[in-house]
Amino acid sequence: MLTIRSLLLLGLLCVAEAAPGRKGNGNGNAQANTQQTAQTAQEQADQIPGGISEATDGSTILDMTAEVNGQTLRFKVSAPADQFTTASGVSGGSQAANATGGSLGLNVLLHGDGGQSFFDFPNQAVQNNLAGVAVLAPDPNLFWGGGSGLDRTDGVAHAQLVNDLVVDVLPTVMAFNASHVSFTGVSGGSLLLSGFFVPAHIGNFADATAGQESQVLLNCGGLTPQVDVAPAAAAAIPNVRMHFQTTQDELALLQPAIPAAIKAYEQLALAGGLDAAAVGALQTVDNSPVGGHCEFDEQDFVSGVQLMADSFASVMQGGDGTLNGTDVNVLNPVVGNEDLVFSGAT
Ligand SMILES: *[C@@H]1O[C@H](CO)[C@@H](O)[C@H](O)[C@H]1NC(C)=O
Ligand SMILES: *[C@@H]1O[C@H](CO)[C@@H](O)[C@H](O)[C@H]1NC(C)=O
Ligand SMILES: *[C@@H]1O[C@H](CO)[C@@H](O)[C@H](O)[C@H]1NC(C)=O
Repeated sequence: MLTIRSLLLLGLLCVAEAAPGRKGNGNGNAQANTQQTAQTAQEQADQIPGGISEATDGSTILDMTAEVNGQTLRFKVSAPADQFTTASGVSGGSQAANATGGSLGLNVLLHGDGGQSFFDFPNQAVQNNLAGVAVLAPDPNLFWGGGSGLDRTDGVAHAQLVNDLVVDVLPTVMAFNASHVSFTGVSGGSLLLSGFFVPAHIGNFADATAGQESQVLLNCGGLTPQVDVAPAAAAAIPNVRMHFQTTQDELALLQPAIPAAIKAYEQLALAGGLDAAAVGALQTVDNSPVGGHCEFDEQDFVSGVQLMADSFASVMQGGDGTLNGTDVNVLNPVVGNEDLVFSGAT
């Protein structure tokens, strides 16, 4: 059995690896390496049992694996027990598989390199009618898109897995409103979303003519589309609320990548027929917090990511745009603010 101590060790390792491109030079890593030399991050994660637990808001968390495209994918779903299907194994689950008419939408989170936010599950509480889902990258290093740094060599396959999980597998686990599925990226997860998932698949989630809506929150990471923008995605992007959130001391390799991603998505929205004012309302950006990579609360990685999860409704769903519990308003239109100025680098 896994002890509390080794769980903490994994946490340290993941914090050290939370940044894309950084490897093996954090204290956490050094400690982990002396004790778990042969184990990959994925092997360590495999030792943390899944199953059923209680969420911070009293919802039920189901942590399970499923076969998606011949690949074993681990994910967590958090929702009131009665929203699970009878087949899910959750006590109190009363929904038929593929039930339509579920009223809760989803906020699907893709963690950063190393998996920290999968285990923390910062979006687990139901917020403003969105239930939380977190997916673990099927990669030895727990990097979304595989590869390293800005080079996500398995991005196409991983984006397809995320799409197929939501479309084909989640309906067998819980009832949800398939017309309201949103996405949150953290660091490497934001690279996968902006670089691969949105250009290939967002058309399945933000088809305005089908009454769908989707929000995409890109925390501490962004890439220009690395694949052709599918026609359905091009049509959907003018209907996707996007926010890019970074910090003053963002990682050096992301400081040019995030503005490039902002410009690319701004162009796609303009090409979709929106005028500059509409693009500025649809797509927003902020890098005001004085902190390092993902330290949106100006404190640390874990609490910074939690703050953005707690601010999802405020920032992404028509709220006043302030980060929860602060007066920091992050709703700056991308138009005119593409060229972010950073003060340093972590
Ligand atoms: C599902 O979400 C769409 C988009 O927000 C909304 O128009 C629709 O009313 C929702 N359906 C239910 C059953 O809540
Ligand atoms: C649910 O619907 C999906 C998508 O249409 C389909 O692939 C899957 O086989 C269905 N599953 C069940 C249990 O009906
Ligand atoms: C926002 O912060 C307050 C404490 O300042 C907390 O009680 C509340 O639950 C938070 N909201 C969300 C959505 O997490």
